[in-house]
Amino acid sequence: MTENETAAVFSAQERRFPPSPDFALQAIAQPGIYQEAKADRLTFWANQANLLHWHKPFNHVLDWTNAPFARWFHDGQLNVAYNCLDRHVLEGRGNRVAIHFEGEPGDTKTYTYAELTIAVKKAANALTALGVGQGDVVAIYLPMIPEAVISMLAVARIGAIHSVVFGGFSAEALHTRIDDAQAKLVITADGGFRRGKPSALKPAVDEALSDGKCPSVTHVLVVKRTGEATGWNDSLDIAWEDAMAAASAEHEAQAYDAENPLFILYTSGTTGKPKGILHTSGGYLTQAAYTHRNVFDLHPETDVYWCTADVGWITGHSYVVYGPLANGATQVIYEGTPDSPHPGRWWEIIQKYKVSILYTAPTAIRSFMKGGREVPDAFDLSSLRLLGSVGEPINPEAWMWYRDVIGGGKCPIVDTWWQTETGAIMISPLPGITNLKPGSAQLALPGIEMAVVNDDGRVLEPGHGGYLVITQPWPSMLRGIWQNPERYQEGYWSRFPTRYFAGDGAKLDNDGDLWVLGRVDDVMNVSGHRLSTAELESALVAHEWVAEAAVVGATDDLTGQTPVAFVILRTDKVAEAGSDENVNNVLRNHVTKEIGAIAKPRQIMVVPELPKTRSGKIMRRLLRDVAEQRDIGDTTTLADVGVMSLITGKLAAGAAD
Ligand code: WTA
Repeated sequence: MTENETAAVFSAQERRFPPSPDFALQAIAQPGIYQEAKADRLTFWANQANLLHWHKPFNHVLDWTNAPFARWFHDGQLNVAYNCLDRHVLEGRGNRVAIHFEGEPGDTKTYTYAELTIAVKKAANALTALGVGQGDVVAIYLPMIPEAVISMLAVARIGAIHSVVFGGFSAEALHTRIDDAQAKLVITADGGFRRGKPSALKPAVDEALSDGKCPSVTHVLVVKRTGEATGWNDSLDIAWEDAMAAASAEHEAQAYDAENPLFILYTSGTTGKPKGILHTSGGYLTQAAYTHRNVFDLHPETDVYWCTADVGWITGHSYVVYGPLANGATQVIYEGTPDSPHPGRWWEIIQKYKVSILYTAPTAIRSFMKGGREVPDAFDLSSLRLLGSVGEPINPEAWMWYRDVIGGGKCPIVDTWWQTETGAIMISPLPGITNLKPGSAQLALPGIEMAVVNDDGRVLEPGHGGYLVITQPWPSMLRGIWQNPERYQEGYWSRFPTRYFAGDGAKLDNDGDLWVLGRVDDVMNVSGHRLSTAELESALVAHEWVAEAAVVGATDDLTGQTPVAFVILRTDKVAEAGSDENVNNVLRNHVTKEIGAIAKPRQIMVVPELPKTRSGKIMRRLLRDVAEQRDIGDTTTLADVGVMSLITGKLAAGAAD
């Protein structure tokens, strides 16, 4: 970093970056938008809903009589895919590029809106021919290739429900998700390209479905991407290419109720079992389109937008598929890793496609910072005019680096806070209006009502820290947890009755700007991805050597947090397990197999005991102290105070070995 940049970091918390007059003048969101939403929130949302095409217009905006189960625009009807595709073609935008696809090996493919519409119509016909209809669940397990987008939109087009499972999840994780949702069809690929090599996907599907483990699945559609040989089950598997070739390109989109389910997306909660977050159509698409337009200041005629998220996460749903396509944006989709085949790949892509809006995660920015500014400096990034951040708090240093090195000191940065459950952005500056403050997500968007409350639920004044809550329903809110309405009520609406508790801590500064501080529950945030400590613990105790396990998220410079596990071995397995190093290796691989590589703990420590309260709750705070190599904090609530010295004594002995 230059001296100037370092100085900027130190004063970052006091610094403000007002919008440039040029940016402000052309911005989609103008200052009046806040007053407009305040004056009449529901009318404001009705106006945003009219960014969409409604086959049958709605009369009711919100039905909250059965709170916390909301219905938005419920007497209206629409087709989500029609909104993302057909209407752009019908309104003369068919030749606009929808997707510039860049494969990791360097192959490319461009889809105009007209071409994408045809592909989705064919895929919709193919799905119908396989017996998929309204209300059926289709699991999608694909790399970041255009077929992922096409599949999602085809499912939406026929009123069915998609459940996208991130390609990095293991066969076991896939199996759990297919089974919980009772998916009828799986769409996958032979594999994708990662770090210069084919990385297989189909074997995980085969394993997930083996021995009749997923009886709900009637077919598997397999896209050919890498061309590598895969197992083939004639009674289940169908080549995507064959299904598409046989399908007609004519398909009229039917209208579905605004509350027709659109997708389930599994995310980690505080228990071992992932929860299927349910989103529906009209409200979700309204807020995805509204936020994408206003937060990213999208000028669809001229902008080239790139969100680096995978479709396996909510960011990929709302800001690769639904928001951008509903708004008729031109976007880049990249299949691979940021550093393949060279560390400047992302910047090369920006230069090549003249990307003007970049949306990515702090963990990526920090890893580029580590690589040095020479890498991005070698490319022409002058097309960029707006930068976005999502997934975890962005530290002011990373914010400044992003602004100076990537944005050339001229691009506003929008730090967007939201969740799988909220469906779309909730807190963010509005570029062209907000005086930006590095490290703070700043303000609830117009139409969104949030507060910071204390333990008793009292709303706090500026200058205080507490829990982040949402005080009014919002259009893209989750409609529940798949097959589990009680868990929805209990998990989000019971801690502070009548308010949605997000699980995050936050501080309101003296200007009334929000600083999101991270999770206050047992959920970790690893590279912007959610993992629950309980999920890892149940994977660990599923191993025959392990009697008990505790997992904590230790602070990590690069990934935000990283899992560190503590295990007690079963006495009869100690000999078999062997050295601590062997246990560490075997169990780390076991977690990768059970959940996926993203969950692999940095370290697994064998300990004789775990610190517990008198009521038997594991004191993760103390384990975090150990994992982060700090002095152990207050131990007064420990049932057995000797435990910590047993653990630290063992670790000190281990270190001396
Ligand atoms: C965290 C990702 C601070 C937060 C869209 C939240 C953030 C969780 C931010 C949701 C941000 C997301 N600043 N923290 N800008 N964005 N988070 O469901 O802890 O994968 O609760 O959704 O990520 O993660 P999820």
